[in-house]
Amino acid sequence: MTGRPYVLLSCAMSIDGYIDDATTERLLLSNDDDLDRVDATRAGCDAIMVGAATVRRDDPRLLVRSERRRAERVARGLAPSPVKVTVTGSGDLDPAARFFTAGDGAKLVYCPSGVVDKAREQVGAVATVVDAGEPVTPEAVVADLAGRGVSRLMVEGGGSVHCQFLTAGLADELHLVVAPFFVGDRRAPRFVGDGRFPWHPGRRARVVEVRQIGDVVLTRYALSDRCLA
Ligand SMILES: NC(=O)c1ccc[n+]([C@@H]2O[C@H](COP(=O)([O-])OP(=O)(O)OC[C@H]3O[C@@H](n4cnc5c(N)ncnc54)[C@H](OP(=O)(O)O)[C@@H]3O)[C@@H](O)[C@H]2O)c1
Repeated sequence: MTGRPYVLLSCAMSIDGYIDDATTERLLLSNDDDLDRVDATRAGCDAIMVGAATVRRDDPRLLVRSERRRAERVARGLAPSPVKVTVTGSGDLDPAARFFTAGDGAKLVYCPSGVVDKAREQVGAVATVVDAGEPVTPEAVVADLAGRGVSRLMVEGGGSVHCQFLTAGLADELHLVVAPFFVGDRRAPRFVGDGRFPWHPGRRARVVEVRQIGDVVLTRYALSDRCLA
């Protein structure tokens, strides 16, 4: 699949591996400098993907925040922010979510064939709903994105989506930020769930960078030969 997009996974977690807490409030794991790094990474991608649960729970804008970076993209003939991508099995998406309302760029919703009608009813006016087959696989999503000209995809979570890309062997690079505290509550979501991962004690991933950013630590892992840095 050399034609597939380069896939970069980005995640922030607590020391004990949680990506959120179990409350209804959004848990802040990153700090301002790290969020600016994430912004720069976003600006270098063609598309950003999150799962539907993250759209519902975090209500993210998923835009490039920096005016300078948006202008640089426009000067390169690109939209100010990458294409936004989500995946849903239920079709339960609110057209008023910021995923859909923020920014003028393209929004793509991948769903199984049986849910296409419902998803189009819900968000067809504000996004392109793509029939991704049954079941939806990360392979099908990246193949469709490649056909739409996406050559660099940033996957920002949540855990379910990250887990599927990792276990499918479709991740080229992982940016993992560890925040300096514990969540300590098993009801909270973790970075990934159970699965057969291509990296295990017998096949260790390659660390390409470790960087302290204020009070958090970023580790960049190369997960395929396509990650050259
Ligand atoms: N710390 C971080 O870096 C970070 C980043 C992002 C999110 N988060 C956190 O992650 C949590 C959410 O993670 P999560 O694992 O529960 O959810 P998620 O990965 O955001 O989304 C899961 C949902 O996406 C849809 N989906 C995923 N794979 C699918 C497939 N193959 N086919 C069809 N639909 C599919 C389903 O939507 P339907 O339910 O609509 O069927 C599924 O329930 C939130 O607490 C959020 O705050 C943390």
